[in-house]
Amino acid sequence: MIYDIKDLSLADEGLERIRWADQDMPVLASIRTRFEQEQPLQGIRIAACLHVTAETANLMRTLKAGGAEVSLCATNPHSTQDDTAAALVTYYEIPVFAIKDEDSQTFYRHIDAVIDTLPHITMDDSANLAGAIHERRTDALQTIVGGTEQTISGVLKLVSLAKQNALKYPVIAVNEAKTKRLVDNRYGTGQSTLDGIVRATNRLIAGRTVVISGYGWCGRGLAERARGMGGRVIICEVDPLKALEAIMDGFSVMPAAEAAKACDIWITATGDIKAIDAPAFEALKDGAIICNTGHFNTEINIPWLEENAVEHTTLRDNVEQYSLPDGRTVLLLAEGRQVNLSCAEGHPASVMDMNFANLALSAHYLIDHASELTEHCYDVPEDVNTNLAQLKLETLGVHIDTLTPEQIKYLNTWDNGYRFIEG
Ligand code: ADE
Repeated sequence: MIYDIKDLSLADEGLERIRWADQDMPVLASIRTRFEQEQPLQGIRIAACLHVTAETANLMRTLKAGGAEVSLCATNPHSTQDDTAAALVTYYEIPVFAIKDEDSQTFYRHIDAVIDTLPHITMDDSANLAGAIHERRTDALQTIVGGTEQTISGVLKLVSLAKQNALKYPVIAVNEAKTKRLVDNRYGTGQSTLDGIVRATNRLIAGRTVVISGYGWCGRGLAERARGMGGRVIICEVDPLKALEAIMDGFSVMPAAEAAKACDIWITATGDIKAIDAPAFEALKDGAIICNTGHFNTEINIPWLEENAVEHTTLRDNVEQYSLPDGRTVLLLAEGRQVNLSCAEGHPASVMDMNFANLALSAHYLIDHASELTEHCYDVPEDVNTNLAQLKLETLGVHIDTLTPEQIKYLNTWDNGYRFIEG
C-alpha cells in the first residue's frame, strides 16, 4: 500500500482518538453496520480530500465497510492529525497522504496521489479534487461517476462551473442539506471557533467586544455563542435582510471600519475575500485579535498586514503579532486559516456524525442513481435529510409525535369542511 504520512509510530494514539470520536457518532455507526451487510459500494474507488481528523477516519471506515476502496488526502495543510493518519494506515489499511503543516508542494502532490487512484467518486471539502481534475487532471474524468462537496466555498465554485456548462460530473452539494446547515454551520462552527480562539489565546470572552463578519448560518451560530459567553457582539453584514435579522436578534450592526474601533476579537465567516481590509486595519483597536473561520485565509487581507507592519513576532503557537507604524498591534491567529481546525480540533464528533452520514448516503445515492444524474450540482435528497434527522433523534433518545391520518388529509385538501370553532 502506498501512503505518505508523518510517523507510523503514532498509530496507537490515533486509534484511541478515532474510537473516542466514534462513541459520539452513532448515526454514522448505524450506517456502517448496514453498509457492512449490504456492501453498496463494492468495488467503488473513492478519493477523499477532507480534514484528516478522527471524525473523518470514521467516515473512511464506513465507506470501506460498504465495500469501497478509499484514499484520503488533506483539504487544509494545517488541520491534519498525524496520529489519526497513522492509525488509518496501520489499523484500517486505508492509504492516507497528509502530513500536518505540509508545504504547498507536498499538499498538491498529495492531492495528485489520491487522484492517481482513478476514483469513481470524489469527496471534497472545498473543491480541491474537483478543481484539480477540471484544471489539470482531466485524465481522471474517465472513471468518475460523481462527487460530493461539503462546504459553501466549494459549492460556489462548482455552481459557477455548472453555470458555464463546464462542470464535468454530477456533484451532490452536501453543504446545502438542512441537516448540515443546522447542526454543522450553526452549532459546530459556533462552538469550535470559540474553542479555537480560547485554546490559542486563553483570553476571556466575557465583557469583550466580538465582531463577526457574515451573518449566514455560521455567523448566527457564532454570534449566539459569543453572546452566551458574555461577549458584546457586533455584526458586519452586506446583505440587508441578514443585517435586519441580526438587529432583530438583538445584535449591533455596523460597517467594518466602525466596528473595528471597538473590536477586541474579530471572526470572519463570509466565504468571501477581504472581509477585514485596509479601512478596518486602519481603525482597529490596539491589541485586537483577528481570526477566520471560513475555508480560505483570504477573508483577512493578510498581505496588507505583511506590507504595513513594522515588526512581526510570534507570541505563542498560532498567535502572530503585527506592529503597525503608529504603535498599535494586531494579533492574527493561525495565519488566518480556519481557527477551529488549526487551534482546536474542528467540529465535535456529534456534529460530524450528521455531515458524514450525509456524505456516506450521498456516495451510495451517486452509485445507485449514476445513470440519471447529469453534470449539475444536486441537493441531498429531502428524504435522506429527514431520515437522518430521525435517526439522530433516535440516538438521542428523543421521540416525537407523528401526524394522524386526519391531519395529513387536512394538510393536503384545500377545503375539507373544517372551520373556526365559534364560541
Ligand atoms: N470540518 C470541521 N470540523 C471537522 C472535523 N472535526 N473533521 C473533519 N472535518 C471537519
